[in-house]
Amino acid sequence: MSKRHPIIAGNWKMHKTLREAQDYAIKLLERLGDVTQIDVVICAPFTLLSTLKDELEESIIHIGAQNMFYVDNGAYTGEISPSMLVDVACTYVIIGHSERREHLKETDEEVAKKVKVALKGGITPILCVGETLEQREEGRAFAVVRSQVEKALVDLPSEELKRVVIAYEPIWAIGTGKVASSQDAQDMCAMIRSTLAGIAGVVAEEINILYGGSVKSSNIAELMAQPDVDGALVGGASLDPVEFAQLVENAVAAL
Ligand code: PGA
Repeated sequence: MSKRHPIIAGNWKMHKTLREAQDYAIKLLERLGDVTQIDVVICAPFTLLSTLKDELEESIIHIGAQNMFYVDNGAYTGEISPSMLVDVACTYVIIGHSERREHLKETDEEVAKKVKVALKGGITPILCVGETLEQREEGRAFAVVRSQVEKALVDLPSEELKRVVIAYEPIWAIGTGKVASSQDAQDMCAMIRSTLAGIAGVVAEEINILYGGSVKSSNIAELMAQPDVDGALVGGASLDPVEFAQLVENAVAAL
């Protein structure tokens, strides 16, 4: 029996207005308001977090952000701090998503600082790692992902490390409809867990490792059946509350 409580996190990316977020939250609560077997998280743009707080704070659905700065306050125009996220009831934050690494040039060093500061602020970081298609074709996928994991978690004591969630998202599977085979997802998640064991010993068994990349209601069950896949980070399929609720229900049924 796994020591881990599964997580399904929706990543809305840069989508939705206030009205849409509010309607979505109401619809999701109707369907998932009683789901306890899986932690459900909605990671929304900063502008929508306060509305989600109003709708979801008292419910079992968790609120997450998609990024955060690594300083708590000060002259950092345009940035958002951990305590600001706590203020809008965020309990999760996505860190180091491949779209930020690519378009915003976020580095492993920045990612490591953000993970550390999120933990210090009491927010669960969802650390994203994953290889490009080129890296996979060159046979470097494991080495790339191992290095991303090690660099992001450097210096963390194991007590803190066990609060980190890792999302393995092969870049070639994000938004492309090309889901990794459940065996590929399992192989990489198992490799990540053994990397974590090298850093933190037995605590690795308590760390949630999610798969992300074209996850839908139709393929979630197969992914959840893998022993080292503890849930999913879901982009496109999280935008529609009916599809996302179905995805979570299918994941629960597969437990
Ligand atoms: P996708 O995105 O589900 O649309 O592939 C996943 C992600 O980028 O988190």
